[in-house]
Amino acid sequence: MREPLILGIESSCDETGVGIVRGLELLANEVASSVEQHARFGGVIPEVASRAHLEAMVPTMRRALDVAGVKLSDVDAIAVTAGPGLSGALLVGLAAAKAYALAAGKPLYGVNHLDAHIAVDTLENGPLPKPSLGLLVSGGHTELLYVEDLAGKVRLLGQTLDDAAGEAYDKVGRILGMPYPAGPHIDAAARLGDPTAIDFPRGLTGPRDLAKHRYDFSFSGLKTAVARWIEARQREGAEIPVNDVAASFQEAVCDVLTAKAIDAAREHGIDTLLLGGGVAANSRLRELAQERCDAAGLTLRFPSRKLCTDNGAMVAALGSHLVAAGVTESRMDIPADSSLA
Ligand code: KG4
Ligand code: ZN
Repeated sequence: MREPLILGIESSCDETGVGIVRGLELLANEVASSVEQHARFGGVIPEVASRAHLEAMVPTMRRALDVAGVKLSDVDAIAVTAGPGLSGALLVGLAAAKAYALAAGKPLYGVNHLDAHIAVDTLENGPLPKPSLGLLVSGGHTELLYVEDLAGKVRLLGQTLDDAAGEAYDKVGRILGMPYPAGPHIDAAARLGDPTAIDFPRGLTGPRDLAKHRYDFSFSGLKTAVARWIEARQREGAEIPVNDVAASFQEAVCDVLTAKAIDAAREHGIDTLLLGGGVAANSRLRELAQERCDAAGLTLRFPSRKLCTDNGAMVAALGSHLVAAGVTESRMDIPADSSLA
């Protein structure tokens, strides 16, 4: 028997994504982004994002079906991001998914966006060892996850107490005059800079912090430290060494993320670390995680860059796991849950 054909719809932030998988084989992953409409505001404007989803949803769906060479009637189930994310943006994807599911008579699966960021890795790297340790780093979240089973057994070990890692990249990038989202720009600038040039703080790594917040993160102090450092230079009339600031900031982020992730894996007897979310596209995070996993005897997994940032394939991938595990479909009145954890 052929594996089930699953269609995934993503609309939690500024990317309209439709992905199609057969089992764990990726057949299509079409993404339309409204990022350019938000760039001049330095962040996503929810109302603008919702309108853009409404315009892009049907064309993106058509393209995905086209690329995969399948019809809606061939699909076995439709998965859609139910949260977390921007309410209005989520509603567009959910309304579309319900309409398609109803019209085609297919089961609907409302899924968690964060779990989808973890699940997408299985499309390229195969089934996850159980348990695995997930380091989820995106624009809205920074979490350490004990992943027992993608079908509902994902436990939160720790998370950021303030800014998410991606948010810190975007805010520091803004201070440095880079366009939104700044993650990829800082990544590129950092390659030309010296990561040891400036000693920026590593949040929640002191002995007392570790006692209380072993697996938690904090990046807002780092962002403030970068801002203060730049202000001081400006007061002196000195030039800002953008590449060195980018590299030193990035080193502080990646140092803490990888150190805590590896500690968590070791302390829970887990031998596989998995990176997921937009910041998992970061070249230094991948490199440092690899170095430290090698040293600790852990296996490191991460998806290719295109699958790290928001897309529909990740939603389809998680849907595929839920269907394979025999999870009950969602009710047609499933709501958008902007703070789904
Ligand atoms: O997962 P994602 O696409 O959306 C959310 O669910 O939030 O993550 C977006 C975040 C943004 O903050 C963006 O700056 C960051 O991922 N990002 C990166 C890189 N590519 C994207 N951060 C650091 N380095 C990158 N190469
Ligand atoms: Zn995301």
